[in-house]
Amino acid sequence: MIGRTFARQPGDVDPILDCYRYTAERAGRRRGVLVEARREVEREGVVARDHRAELACRVESGERSSDSVDGGHRTRVPRTDCLRRGLPLEHRVERRVVEGCESMADPLDASQGVQYELFAALRTECPVSRTASGAYFLAGHDDVLAATKNIGAFQASFREPGVVVPPEEQLISEIPEPRHGAIRRIINSAIAQHRIGRVEPYARRLCHDLLDGVLARGGGDLVAEYVTPIPASVIAHMLGADPSDHHRFAEWSDLVVQSTYATKNRSDGGEDGEGLAGTAPEFIAYIDAMIASRKAASDPPDDFVTRLIHTEVDGRTLTDLEMRTQLAFLLISGNETTRHLIANILEVLCTNPELFARLQADHDLVTVVVEESLRHDPPIHVLMRDCIAPTTVAGVEIPIGEKVAFGLASANRDPQTYDDPDAFRVDRPSPKDHLAFGGGPHVCPGAALARLEGRVALEVFLERVATARLDDGYRREPVPVFWANGPRRLPVITRSRSG
Ligand code: HEM
Repeated sequence: MIGRTFARQPGDVDPILDCYRYTAERAGRRRGVLVEARREVEREGVVARDHRAELACRVESGERSSDSVDGGHRTRVPRTDCLRRGLPLEHRVERRVVEGCESMADPLDASQGVQYELFAALRTECPVSRTASGAYFLAGHDDVLAATKNIGAFQASFREPGVVVPPEEQLISEIPEPRHGAIRRIINSAIAQHRIGRVEPYARRLCHDLLDGVLARGGGDLVAEYVTPIPASVIAHMLGADPSDHHRFAEWSDLVVQSTYATKNRSDGGEDGEGLAGTAPEFIAYIDAMIASRKAASDPPDDFVTRLIHTEVDGRTLTDLEMRTQLAFLLISGNETTRHLIANILEVLCTNPELFARLQADHDLVTVVVEESLRHDPPIHVLMRDCIAPTTVAGVEIPIGEKVAFGLASANRDPQTYDDPDAFRVDRPSPKDHLAFGGGPHVCPGAALARLEGRVALEVFLERVATARLDDGYRREPVPVFWANGPRRLPVITRSRSG
């Protein structure tokens, strides 16, 4: 499945081999990995090229510790033993010339769903690989985490080469610093002022209303009838949209996400530069009208749009066009993702009656299950970046201009970071320690809202549903969005707790 072509240079071996031998000798943990790696290290020819040797060296000798604050990760990797032993990392990396590491299977092939077996092979054999589409794919947890922080080298972009987006229409994720930081502070500040907790009663009532229908019918497709309306309606409510328009938000979000807007900045067949307005004219007209009506009102409603209009950071507010772009992006980024979070949780619950019963008996486990779902099945399984400065990851040089995919789902199942990574466990020591919300300066600002929605949707489900069983022969169908990870349908038979 995976082919490696590592070239060896004279005098190339010693630093890694030496460092590796040292760490292998002292390793108490992960001995299996080390023993296996040592065999390769000692085999002729491949010595210094082996990613595993370097990885083992790095992981075993570093005192890695990480903690997480509201989905953000701070990872401390102090000087490794390699460095203490006078073997600077740069020195080791420079001496390694990795000519290629190509995966015959494509970790970005959406039709295959999220390919955990392939990820496992890549993490071991080829932590930085070239996909069939030509993008580089980062598979290891520490490499992905470090790359999310390396904004000097990697810039978020779904756009095809040559697509130029006018600055005010750039999504927050693709705006370069320092403008990104300024706009993000305005959005964060408006969200903080608006206080996410205020949406909880709305979300709870909505979940009850949606389940009324499902339970009355004895089941249905949970994705369509329960899950899909939750995030779209919650965001519409936060923005201050009229309740009779809430159902349109999910449709608008699907329209944008499933169009070619993200890659081409225009809809299929549209003109260059059409942007969001060309792709979803009704949606954009709706947002523009919300902004205009609040600006015109002498006593505007206390909602997120009003707050965003007036939030000033460093003497600057957003222009109308920037506001339109970022408001639309809040819906798009918060809808598709949170939908899959809730659906992924319910899928686990409906296939695991033991866990269902345990949760019904102990609602304190709900928040843990939300986090474990985010780790086990991150709703965004891959983040796309452009390489904007030549950089080296795990010994592989990535040239400027290349597309790079950060494998979040792969990182979240890295056995170097998580014990028993493929298991869905509710006893992990640091449940929030995962990369589902990304990391670094672009870490998801909606994490608190997503967690709230996941928790409330699950709590109400446990409160109302006695049993829920997926239809016989259920097979997960992946959603048609290549970066997203969630089931397209969840056909279930349900029994209500109230009989
Ligand atoms: C389970 C649900 C969610 C998941 C898994 C998720 C995941 C992510 C990820 C992986 C990123 C990219 C981070 C990076 O580039 O390093 C991101 C960015 C972002 N998310 Fe979320 N997200 C979720 C929900 C939300 C919600 C509810 C909102 C807002 C309503 C939101 C708004 C954003 C925004 C605006 C960005 C761009 C931030 C920036 O580039 O500075 N997300 N999210």
